[in-house]
Parts: sequence; C-alpha cells; structure tokens
Amino acid sequence: MALRVRPLEAPLGAIVEGVDASRPLDPAVCKRLLSCWREHLVLVLRGQALSDPQLLAFSRLFGELDPPGPNPYGEPFLKQFPEINVISNVVENGRPIGNLGAGEAVWHADMTYVDIPPKAGILYSLEIPREGGDTWFADMYAAYEALPADMKAAIEGKRCVHDASHNSAGMLRKGYKPITDVRETPGARHPLVRTNPRTGRKCLFLGRRPNAWIVGLDVSESDKILDALWAHAAQPAFTMIHKWQPGDLLIWDNLSVLHRRDEFDPGSRRIMHRTQVKGTETVA
Ligand code: OGA
Ligand code: MN
Repeated sequence: MALRVRPLEAPLGAIVEGVDASRPLDPAVCKRLLSCWREHLVLVLRGQALSDPQLLAFSRLFGELDPPGPNPYGEPFLKQFPEINVISNVVENGRPIGNLGAGEAVWHADMTYVDIPPKAGILYSLEIPREGGDTWFADMYAAYEALPADMKAAIEGKRCVHDASHNSAGMLRKGYKPITDVRETPGARHPLVRTNPRTGRKCLFLGRRPNAWIVGLDVSESDKILDALWAHAAQPAFTMIHKWQPGDLLIWDNLSVLHRRDEFDPGSRRIMHRTQVKGTETVA
C-alpha cells in the first residue's frame, strides 16, 4: 500500500495513511515518512496495533533511542523495556504504572534540560478516556517568524536555562530540590533561537516556562521577556490539537514544536507507551 499524507487543517501536522507500523517498512516508504516528519513536524498514524518490541522497532527508524529521563519513582516503568516510558494516570497495587498523572501537562518540549535533547518524540495510545486528555502542538518556526523585529533582536544570542528538576506535570524529579531562585535552576542552557542545521531556518527554542531564566538578565527583565515569548508562542495561530483514539501513533519534531496535554477525569484510564529518539547535536 502506498503512503498517503493529508496535512491537517492547522498550521502543522499531517495524517499519514497506508503505513502499518508493526511491520518492517520498505526503505522508500521509510524515507518518505522521515521527510514528511521534517516537513509537517507532527505525524498522526491511526489504527495501529503495536506490541512493545514493534513500537521500539518502528521508533528506531528515526534514529537511536534515548532512554526516558528520571521519573519521580526512580526506576523504569517497564523493566523489560527501559527505553519505553509509560504515560498514564493508572495506579495498580498502590503504585502508578506511568508518569504525568491526570492533570494538565504544561507546554514543553521533552528533555530539553540536557545538552543534546531528543530530536523526536513518539507516543502510542493504548487506552483513552472518553473525553479530555487532548494533546496540543505548537510550531516554533511559525512562532519565531511572526515575532516582532524588536523581540527578535532582544533574544538573538541569548541563552535560557531549561529546568531539569520538575516534569511537565510539575512533579519534582527524584534527587532534585525545589527551586527558590531561577538563577540557580539546574539544567542545560540553550540559545532561545535555534537554527535548523539542515535548512538554516530559525525557530524559537523555549523548552518550558516554569523556573526558566534568560542567563545574565535581571530576573524581572528575564520574566518579562519570557512571559511575552510564551504568550506569543502558544497562540492558536501556531497550534494543532490531537484528540486521541486507541491505536494512534504520533511522532513529533521535539526540537521545533512544543506540546501540552489537557487534564482529564482522574477516575478514567489513559495509557500511552512512549519512546524518543536521540538528538545528534547541541542546540545552536
Ligand atoms: C509526553 C507528553 C503528553 C500526553 O509523553 O512527553 O508530554 O498527551 N505526553 O500524554
Ligand atoms: Mn512531553
């Protein structure tokens, strides 16, 4: 079956049909999938049925896998498959089977608190609540390009610290202390403006708002710029929404989109298996 791509009616994202991700892909199809991912930034493949090894094999088409960052419990959720993260609110025998609970996950990109952040995020849905828990994505190329010239000038060459101590649900990671002064936030310091080394195109590289600080600025000045950047970046003009069904497989470009998740009823069940692909270079 041939691969078909239908761009969403949104500034980013495309539905890809004609790919069974559980089977080895023809090299030409694989090449097309990778180029669609680079072009549309978020790919949506529906109706998949994947075992964990099949999810891993599919994920490796995008590159070497990057194990998940430390979760609040200090050990992998799937001991047999440590490269898979579990995103879930389900608690079994008094223990969460996955990360992020049922609350909102605020806008973020994954693991940007390390020097070489993952270049792709891959999320596969197994169980989905009847409502809520939608995932949003925002295109940071479009956001950068739409910035006023004075803001572009204000952030050019500036670096920002990306908080390593909390996850996107606001939970403190194991081994970290709460932050009282953002000038002491632990985590990588990346340029606020990233240039895609393949294309030369610039995007905003924000990571996450909580505990961020623009290195070298007074905290109040840094907060003022960051608040303005985040208000700009999360505008509907740059976003798409994904309403999940079981069997959906999403792949996003983690270095040029942000994502966030809506809260959902904690009494319902949401289970996702998750991989990510290692980046190949520092953000510049
Ligand atoms: C993630 C994440 C959002 C969601 O897996 O990195 O942010 O919709 N998940 O579960
Ligand atoms: Mn995430």
